[in-house]
Amino acid sequence: MSGAARQVVARVLAGRGAQARESATVYAPANIALVKYWGKRDEALNLPVTGSLSISLGPLGSHVTLGRWAGAADDAMWLNGEVLPAESSFARRASAYLDLFRPAADFRFELRARNTVPTAAGFASSASGFAALAKAVDALFGWGLTERELSILARLGSGSAARSLADGFVEWHAGVAADGMDSFAERLAVTWPELRVGALVVSAAEKAVGSRAGMRQTVETCEFYREWPARVARDLADLKGALEKKDFAALGAVAEGNALAMHALMAATRPPLVYALPETVAAMRSIWAARGAGLALWFTMDAGPNVKLLFEAKDEADVRALFPGVQVVAPFAGEDKL
Ligand code: DP6
Repeated sequence: MSGAARQVVARVLAGRGAQARESATVYAPANIALVKYWGKRDEALNLPVTGSLSISLGPLGSHVTLGRWAGAADDAMWLNGEVLPAESSFARRASAYLDLFRPAADFRFELRARNTVPTAAGFASSASGFAALAKAVDALFGWGLTERELSILARLGSGSAARSLADGFVEWHAGVAADGMDSFAERLAVTWPELRVGALVVSAAEKAVGSRAGMRQTVETCEFYREWPARVARDLADLKGALEKKDFAALGAVAEGNALAMHALMAATRPPLVYALPETVAAMRSIWAARGAGLALWFTMDAGPNVKLLFEAKDEADVRALFPGVQVVAPFAGEDKL
């Protein structure tokens, strides 16, 4: 982690102590962006070029228990009950992040992470993972940070993690400050209990070019990237209008259009980034055909071939008939009493 990230941590913690309790257990939900984050203005702090807006996935996310590990040279880590070798990419990324919070050079963490995000469902677990890690260090050391401060800390691990501190619809403000203290996410007041998100798994294979490298290549080589900030500003305004009016067709149109615009940038990147597989395109065509026949079904996609469906509870049977393998999430389940 960079010196700039360390300075942000020092600023957020503002001299708070580092008395670790025995252990702390926390949870953070995964999220899917409806208006995407693609491109950074600062790579060390994961500061985005634009704002973005996501929906948190309620019960799908990361449970993390963090404590002090007595002994050994490395942090000790388990993922879904299995020991993680220190040289695995997950352990290295998590340890590098935990370095930001290590109270002494010989302090070792014990980390047990359990993802309820089905690993093969094509939902990213890095957002919920880093958000849970930020919450876990806060709880372990008893700092009592605000959600906004936790969002800033989670962002240092992965940009989209800034949006995984809250439930519901969450907006990440791009901010303008060089140190990113104004680049955090917060929940919008709207709830939409009927909203459903479906995961269509086209391929569970690891992608060739991840988001981090992919967005850097786009910013560096895509000549249309300069159009993206204005497009995102429009999409954010339209999506917030749709949420206010509870206009599902407008929500779906903004989300699908924004995802396709991001994939157009990716395709115009050199070398080209094309994440869609033939099955991805076939799913898109089925969605468009079903919509043409009257079904209120839209989709979004991230930096991979899997498709996330957006629809409302009343259409779930029709969506399942069209895509029998779909895994359905109700983002507002558990908030029925709101
Ligand atoms: C396509 O948050 O994974 O999912 O900040 O480099 O860790 P880093 O990137 P990451 O990028 C997510 C990109 C996306 C769109 C989104 O979630 O907004």
